[in-house]
Amino acid sequence: MTDSHNLPVALVTGAASGIGQALAVTYAQRGVRVVGGYFPADPHDHQDTLKRVAATGGECIMLPLDVTDTTSVDALAAAAMEHFGRLDYAVANAGLLRAAPLLEMTDERWNELLNVDLTGVMRTFRAAARHMGDGGAMVAISSIAGGVYGWQDHSHYAAAKAGVPGLCRSLAVELAPRGIRCNAVIPGLIETPQSLDAKNSLGPEGLAKAARSIPLGRVGRADEVAALVAFLTSTEASYLTGQSIIVDGGLTVRWPD
Ligand code: NAI
Repeated sequence: MTDSHNLPVALVTGAASGIGQALAVTYAQRGVRVVGGYFPADPHDHQDTLKRVAATGGECIMLPLDVTDTTSVDALAAAAMEHFGRLDYAVANAGLLRAAPLLEMTDERWNELLNVDLTGVMRTFRAAARHMGDGGAMVAISSIAGGVYGWQDHSHYAAAKAGVPGLCRSLAVELAPRGIRCNAVIPGLIETPQSLDAKNSLGPEGLAKAARSIPLGRVGRADEVAALVAFLTSTEASYLTGQSIIVDGGLTVRWPD
C-alpha cells in the first residue's frame, strides 16, 4: 500500500477547464495530488474537475483563484501546505485571450491581459517557490502565438506568451541551486473553451480549417498537452530545465505551401 503522504502535490491554475482540467485528471491517474485554482468569474464548473479526478481514485481540492491578485495566489499555495503538507509542482496554466487590433489597444486592455498571462505566471511561481524544495518542478503554458508565430490582433497575448519562456529560463537558473526545475510548454492549436471562442480565437470552423495545415491532420487534445506537462514535472525529466517544448502536431515545422 502507498502511503498517500509520500505522493507529490501539484498546484494547477485554471484547473476548471481545458488543459488545466485535463492536467488535474492526468496527475490523478499518475498518483499526483492536485490543488487546483478556478476563476469564479468564468462559467466553468469546477465540480466537474473534482468529479473527474474522483473517478480516477485520485485526490484534488479546488479553490477560487484570481492570478491577478497576489493574496489569492499566495493563499492557493498556502492551501497546498495546509491540506496536503507539501508542494512539489506548480503549473501556471491560467490564461486569458482577447482579440484587440493595435489601434483599439487601450492601456487597460493591454495591462489586463499581461496581468493574467505573464505577471500571473510570476505570481504563481513566486507563491509556490516559498514552499517547494529539492525535486520541485514548475511549468508555464506559453503558446505558438508569441512563442513562435505572430498573430494579428493579438499583440498583447503574443507579447505575454513570448515572455513566458524567458521567465522560465531565468527561474531555471535562479532556482537550480535549490533543486527546482522550470520549463515552458508551447502548445499549438488545442481544442478547449479558449480556442473554440470564435470571437477571440479561431472558433470551431477556424480550428477545422487550420487542422488541414497540421501535419498530424488534426488539432490537439487537452490531455496531450497535459501528458507533456506531467512528464516535465516528473522525475523522468530530472535533468531537463530552462527549456521550451512545442506540442503542436508538427504545425511549426511544416514547409509552407
Ligand atoms: P481555457 O480557457 O479552458 O483555460 C484557461 C483557464 O484560465 C480557464 O479555466 C479560466 O477560467 C482561467 N483563468 C482566466 N483568467 C484567470 C484569472 N484571472 N485567474 C485565474 N484563472 C483564470 O483554455 P485552455 O486552452 O485550456 O488554456 C490553458 C492555457 O493554454 C492558457 O494559458 C492558454 O493561453 C494556453 N494555450 C492554449 C492553446 C489552445 O489552443 N487552446 C494554445 C496555446 C496556449
